[in-house]
Amino acid sequence: MIKVRKLHFEFGDDIPFWFNPKSREASLLVTSMSLIAPAFERYFIKAIRDAMPRIRDAAARDEANRFCIQEGQHAKFHIDHQELLLRKHPALEAVRDEVNRSYDDLQRSESTAFALAYATTIELGFKPLARYLVENRHVLFADGDPRIASFILWHFVEEFEHRHAMFDVYQAVVGDYGYRLRVARRTFAHVSALGARVQPACIACEEPPVDDPALPRIPRRRKVALALGLLETLSPFHDPRRGAVPQWITEWFAADEAGADMTAVAL
Ligand SMILES: [Fe+2]
Ligand SMILES: [Fe+2]
Repeated sequence: MIKVRKLHFEFGDDIPFWFNPKSREASLLVTSMSLIAPAFERYFIKAIRDAMPRIRDAAARDEANRFCIQEGQHAKFHIDHQELLLRKHPALEAVRDEVNRSYDDLQRSESTAFALAYATTIELGFKPLARYLVENRHVLFADGDPRIASFILWHFVEEFEHRHAMFDVYQAVVGDYGYRLRVARRTFAHVSALGARVQPACIACEEPPVDDPALPRIPRRRKVALALGLLETLSPFHDPRRGAVPQWITEWFAADEAGADMTAVAL
């Protein structure tokens, strides 16, 4: 069962625009994500709320509801981070509004089935991405602001935890693999276009860090594993529950259960 947690993050103005001065990859990913994620998380929640009456099984409805609560919390803290980014560079407000409008337009012009297929494509992709971020956490997060590092790792631990949730809703309500595949093409195009709008706008505001030459490089095999993992989500045989849980994620869950402060997580 998906666990609803009550974590609280504070993002003070002392946090730099690029949270990790030693990693370009992590800085670009996190800043772009905070500008885009709240809009699609809201879009996913609306899709599930629309679809809820069509989920027959009460336990499945409860799990879908827990998914929505987790996503709502992710969106809340991404918006807090977004506000910090916008205080530093008010020019990004227009970009943030464009992203939000883009999802509002999708919601108006496309069906609930489309939104569920879109959301499933993204959510399935978050599982291999979560594994990649966790396995490379030292390179990507150790030199970054610890509040943002803990926040992003919390987000992706929960993405891993609810890796099956959106897929289950899609299977229960739409269940059409061919349709999901067709929508996946549009999903990738849409998200890529938003990334192509957001990233240069952020770079224009402030030069992103260059990778510290002393940092170990992420092994090529892990980049390949991420690409293959993303590709595998498009297979008709894909099962998001399959595969081992990364050790660090298991330890994160245990520490959380034991009452540790997960807003200041140890890598
Ligand atoms: Fe999320
Ligand atoms: Fe998610």
